[in-house]
Amino acid sequence: MEFFADALTKTLPAYLQSLPIPRNAEELTAMTPEKAVEIAPLFLVLVVHFFVVQMLLCGSGSKAARCNTMIKLDSPKVVDKVTPKFKDGKIVMCRCWKSKSFPYCDGSHTAHNKETGDNVGPLIILEK
Ligand code: FES
Repeated sequence: MEFFADALTKTLPAYLQSLPIPRNAEELTAMTPEKAVEIAPLFLVLVVHFFVVQMLLCGSGSKAARCNTMIKLDSPKVVDKVTPKFKDGKIVMCRCWKSKSFPYCDGSHTAHNKETGDNVGPLIILEK
């Protein structure tokens, strides 16, 4: 309960900090039933606010959000320069980050799409 009250306090905007929310078990047990009913809707809004903020904060920094999970992971940014060598009048570039011959497509996007339900595919550059 202490954790929850502490987390609520930290995620509350400053203008909501003065609201009569019990901050610990002692304050909670001292509350009258009438007061509890009075602040119940506010408490519900605060709980929803807490979880929405947590979801937004956790989702943005998550490793699961990465599209690149295997190519040059030690590099701060993956940049490739290529000299175009057209084969059969085209160059097929990977956009799924799963190719073992990155930056060229090797067809790995098919397995990725099947596994994840994604719909990524290559960039095909046509020779004039
Ligand atoms: S392997 Fe990545 S787009 Fe084909």
